[in-house]
Amino acid sequence: MALTGLFLCLFLVGHLLGNLQLIFITGEEGKVAFNEYAYFMTHNPAVKVLSYLTYFSILFHAIDGLMLTIQNKKARPTNYAMNKPNTNSSTPARYMAILGTVVLVFICTHMVNFWAKMHFTNMPLHTITKSIEAPVGQDPTTGQPVVKELEVDYVYTTNGQYQESKVSLAEMNYSEEKYEIKKGTMLYDKTSGLKVAEGLKDLHSQVMTFFGQDIKGLPSNSNALLYVILYVLSMAVLGFHLWHGFSSAFQTLGLRSKKYVGAISMAGKLFAVIIPAAFAIIPILIYLA
Ligand code: HEM
Repeated sequence: MALTGLFLCLFLVGHLLGNLQLIFITGEEGKVAFNEYAYFMTHNPAVKVLSYLTYFSILFHAIDGLMLTIQNKKARPTNYAMNKPNTNSSTPARYMAILGTVVLVFICTHMVNFWAKMHFTNMPLHTITKSIEAPVGQDPTTGQPVVKELEVDYVYTTNGQYQESKVSLAEMNYSEEKYEIKKGTMLYDKTSGLKVAEGLKDLHSQVMTFFGQDIKGLPSNSNALLYVILYVLSMAVLGFHLWHGFSSAFQTLGLRSKKYVGAISMAGKLFAVIIPAAFAIIPILIYLA
């Protein structure tokens, strides 16, 4: 449990750094950075191995924790006659199983909302629409060029380029799709039938729609405030779980020697406050943006 717990702490640091891009890099640049990051995280072989280790650690940690709790209950079916819990342990230490269960429920719902969508659904591709003025012919009487407003959609591709994918002549209500999408992300030229490029899934917009209120160009989500509140509460629970868990892991591994006990306790408490608080800030700022 200690090893998987510490590995999950490392995962939290990495995951947090990746997610902070959502609030530190704004506009199209932020969207590009986050979607490229999400692509890298789901395609790089070394990261894939780390991901499988993470899934394993979550399952192992949860199952082992459950078994340990049952074992402890069986070992002492009746309560102590004299019980002063506050003098023996901190409050989070006594509620680790409940706190851990809430974190597990959070992780499951969280993965359904983002991870499963990214991996198993045809999420819309990262696309931008630009309005351009283009000459579309000549006025027969004056000989002057006729300029019309064109809406052009560009798909952002894995090779870092914007590929023109759809042109619509706004005034004539006419739109021409250049590509069809196969296998979720592959762009195929409609006329030649050849594969042109691979688009990036737009996970950034998925997250922004989930937590944001009426962000320009994205569908509105009437549940955003509820999701933000649930995320912030879950992060508080995660904080309490880590408050005891972090230093307890060092104790289990026999690394909490007298010399370092103070430093490890302090590091554990700082970790338990800073990491969940930084996670919680992300949905709050997206909601308020
Ligand atoms: C509020 C902050 C958070 C945001 C915005 C966020 C966002 C995301 C996104 C977008 C994904 C999908 C990435 C992908 O599949 O490549 C993801 C995956 C995941 N998240 Fe979070 N997350 C947050 C907090 C957390 C926390 C606190 C935990 C753990 C307690 C967590 C655990 C996970 C796990 C286990 C995955 C799957 C990772 C993998 O496939 O390697 N997330 N998260």
